[in-house]
Amino acid sequence: MTDEELLKEAKDAMEKAYAPYSHFKVGAALLSKEGKAFSGCNVENASYGASICAERNAMTNAVSGGCTSVSRIAIVSSGGGFTYPCGICRQFLSEFMDKDGTVILCDSEKGIKRIPFGELFPFPFDKNSLNE
Ligand code: THU
Repeated sequence: MTDEELLKEAKDAMEKAYAPYSHFKVGAALLSKEGKAFSGCNVENASYGASICAERNAMTNAVSGGCTSVSRIAIVSSGGGFTYPCGICRQFLSEFMDKDGTVILCDSEKGIKRIPFGELFPFPFDKNSLNE
């Protein structure tokens, strides 16, 4: 699957976002090492803190589908600019991203940007930290 196709999956997911409070819709689509695509949108809640980001929803969909290794993730939003994953999502994704995994972002005017996940989140809290 091409980056453009993955971005299209993310846009389709974004259309389903439930964002009646922020009115900011986000969609994410990831490709697993098995070559399967999973997507998710943000789902807000009247108790604001209970809201869930698109990236984590895409990731939990992948795990629920039996996939725990991610090579690429595409993220788009109704804001139109590059939408970087929030800190909690970076930590959450770090558990499953391949070492050389890529984050694909899209700005409606500037086009596609590809960032190595390790550059976006170089020092995750990981399993090894638990044993140190
Ligand atoms: N949001 C995401 O879905 N992903 C992010 O990485 C940042 C923020 C959502 C959460 C909330 O529903 C809305 O965007 C505004 O913060």
